[in-house]
Amino acid sequence: MDKNTSSSSSSAAAHVLIIPFPAQGHVTPMLSLAKLISFSGVFTTFVNTESIHRRLSGSGRIDGRRLRFRAVPDLLTDDGGNERDFDFPSMFFNLQESMRRGSTETYKKLLTEEFIGEWPPVTCVIADGVLDFAIEVAGEVGIPTLVFRTSSPCCAWTYATIPSLINNGIIPFPEECDMDEIVKGVEGMEGIMRRRDLPSFMRMVKSTEDNHIKLMNGFNSNLVSGKVIIFNSFDALDPTLLPIMSSYWPPIFTIGPLHLLTKFWVKNSCSSSLRQEDRTCMTWLDNQPDKSVIYVSFGTVAVMSPEQYIEFWHGLVNSGHRFLWAVREDMVKGKQEMEVTKEMEEETKKRGCMVEWVPQEEVLAHRAVGCFLTHCGWNSTLEGMVAGVPMICWPYFSDQMINSRFVSDVWRIGLDMKDVCDRNIVERMVREVMEGESALELRSSAARMADLARKSIDENGTSRANFESLVSYIKSAEL
Ligand code: UDX
Repeated sequence: MDKNTSSSSSSAAAHVLIIPFPAQGHVTPMLSLAKLISFSGVFTTFVNTESIHRRLSGSGRIDGRRLRFRAVPDLLTDDGGNERDFDFPSMFFNLQESMRRGSTETYKKLLTEEFIGEWPPVTCVIADGVLDFAIEVAGEVGIPTLVFRTSSPCCAWTYATIPSLINNGIIPFPEECDMDEIVKGVEGMEGIMRRRDLPSFMRMVKSTEDNHIKLMNGFNSNLVSGKVIIFNSFDALDPTLLPIMSSYWPPIFTIGPLHLLTKFWVKNSCSSSLRQEDRTCMTWLDNQPDKSVIYVSFGTVAVMSPEQYIEFWHGLVNSGHRFLWAVREDMVKGKQEMEVTKEMEEETKKRGCMVEWVPQEEVLAHRAVGCFLTHCGWNSTLEGMVAGVPMICWPYFSDQMINSRFVSDVWRIGLDMKDVCDRNIVERMVREVMEGESALELRSSAARMADLARKSIDENGTSRANFESLVSYIKSAEL
């Protein structure tokens, strides 16, 4: 199938079932896709585990004419706990297993249902590329599967080169190796990646039998098992990598930034937030001067020690700039024992605002925000790019290591603070992004990037065209 060729043999009975991995960073872009596809006239069923389904209800989730929400039972508790437990491979393996045991029957039933009212049977599945079970079961019942990868193309490609990194002796990392050495073996990324920019789990791998390697190899097989691969990204970001990836993989559809496409196309859209947003921060932002605030957030998974938290806090305060910090209640490990001094409280009141969870897209788009201190999760990175806000990156794990390298050294829209947590460096980087010549340079390259992102979803933009051919493909008999 040529992704540039729209099919003419369209059928009105297309019905796509979309199933994300149960975590915020996966639900958000896949719900955007569900809204967009249903808006294009295709029947769309969005399937979550029961715990996520319940949490989405708080955001005003409502079934529409062509978009319906369904839940599959899981064996998880309803405390968002799967985002917290952080032995990465174990978390994935346990979750897949609990879904396999808890969800298969209901999922299979949804896949094989006959007509229900005007809803036709499911004609294809868009499965999260890390949800093995969803891909396997769709295969078993003979439904074509399209794979959606919620991380960046540069991350998916790095995972795919693991066999080559093993062959070249890069993994496992030799004892006492130089973390700043540029690694060989990632085709298309020559001269870019240092050891420290590889997915963080590679630092733990002791043998090629390691669980992390098994997990990543599983993600790689999932990717190539689909009819097509969908990325929440746009072509201008990876002009070198995407043609290389396309030469090895099924057709790739880059259709992002999805949150931007959704904003323009889908009216009255419900929020995808799984947590209660504290909107008092918007009033606080309204009272701050233009581009004066550093917005700080480390996403949904990252945790830090009280010592690291205090280093960040001092760095921010010492910079003299204002800050808005989204601090999840589970973000600082051992917070109970942490001593918050009077000085900290007073300084925060003077120039800061701290809340648990913010409406991030709105915050980033606010005129008062001048810098984004981020963990570089792919959604946050795209949201920062679209807003044209320069970033300071403090990646926590996995894909974030790669994204932060690209932000600083390929796209040049921010600074990478990876592997360091020191108040002096936080202060220096904040100043570099907020003050003088360096700030002007970063701001103008961030603005150029925002412009490229916007152009990609314009009438003649690449993401818009790719999205339209994806919908034609879903409607077609070619599946
Ligand atoms: C992880 C991975 O790093 C990411 O690349 C992967 O694809 C999904 O899981 P996560 O920590 O969830 O990332 O971060 P990110 O991908 O940035 O997603 C976080 C989302 O939460 C963003 O859409 C952001 O807007 C939202 N958010 C965060 C809020 O709405 N409010 C907040 O206060 C903080």
